[in-house]
Amino acid sequence: MRKVLVTGGAGFVGRHVVRRLLEAGDEVHAVDCLAPDTGGLDPARGWPLFDPREFRNFHFYHEDCRAWFERVQDTDFDYAFHLAAMVGGRLMIENNPLAVAADLAIDAQYWQWAKLAKPGKTVCFSSSAAYPISLQRADHYVLLKEDMISFDGDIGMPDMTYGWAKLTCEYLARLAYEKHGLRSVCYRPFSGYGEDQDDAYPFPSICKRAIDNQDADVLHVWGTGTQMRDFIHIEDCVEGVLATMDKIDDARAINLSTGILTNFLEFAGLAAELLGYHPEVRGMSDKPVGVHARGGDTTLQRQLGFAPRVDFRSGIERALKYYAR
Ligand SMILES: NC(=O)c1ccc[n+]([C@@H]2O[C@H](COP(=O)([O-])OP(=O)(O)OC[C@H]3O[C@@H](n4cnc5c(N)ncnc54)[C@H](O)[C@@H]3O)[C@@H](O)[C@H]2O)c1
Repeated sequence: MRKVLVTGGAGFVGRHVVRRLLEAGDEVHAVDCLAPDTGGLDPARGWPLFDPREFRNFHFYHEDCRAWFERVQDTDFDYAFHLAAMVGGRLMIENNPLAVAADLAIDAQYWQWAKLAKPGKTVCFSSSAAYPISLQRADHYVLLKEDMISFDGDIGMPDMTYGWAKLTCEYLARLAYEKHGLRSVCYRPFSGYGEDQDDAYPFPSICKRAIDNQDADVLHVWGTGTQMRDFIHIEDCVEGVLATMDKIDDARAINLSTGILTNFLEFAGLAAELLGYHPEVRGMSDKPVGVHARGGDTTLQRQLGFAPRVDFRSGIERALKYYAR
């Protein structure tokens, strides 16, 4: 039985990570303050897809992880999954950049804790938002490759304070390895999605709008609708992490992506088609849109032996069935 810390363990990614670890028989210590405007859900009320309270190996601390880092410095954690962050969707990233900047403090304190507690391995959740936005513009975009961020060469402007904090966390992970021998791997998930994601994210909101508008001729999506994302199912994200996390120790980053770009007009059209209707899909230009195209190269993941399994159509179908229930 491994002893594992999961910060942000009650959030969307956290719940899926915690489930896999509990099912593997690990002793899981999840720390989460259930911050407002994030995807955190109180385990005391059960979680949408499973009930962690059914596992005796589940330990939950309803606490700011920064306070927990001060309080608990056990030196016997085999793994630490560091997920705690103020994220909260596009509105939060664009309209509340200073709240999101708390991630800088959370990550700085995580690494100070790690220096003392020396977890066997840190699995650090960075983000595709760390990539330079100059490579994601309508007039110039590419599939983003891990080496497009180089702390020895160029780093471009990331996406708002969110991307900035993620970039800094990756840099701290590298310093922690070089100066203190702390083993870690960083992940850059693209648009992780799943039926139990918070409604502040495009995936559940577009699926639910498609369900609610089945008699309508027009279906709306945010922005122009031509913005493109690389949607990867949360189960694939977690599988990708578990399959590759022991293969890198020096804090290098790995994309979690499919390499397939889908725009929001196509996405909403597909959801409607799966529900059996064919509306005109239109953008709502007063809503924030973020970068034009954010997709991730998959070469490194494949080299490390991981390929996503859930195609986007099946992922939408699954969510539509879940919401209908
Ligand atoms: N979901 C994705 O597709 C995606 C993409 C890129 C990166 N990530 C990264 O994965 C991690 C998890 O994201 P998510 O989608 O699950 O978001 P989420 O909002 O669902 O989960 C984040 C969790 O962190 C908790 N938290 C925030 N501040 C905290 C603090 N000070 N102490 C303890 N807990 C705190 C929140 O309460 C929440 O439960 C984040 O680091 C995020 O940046 C996720």
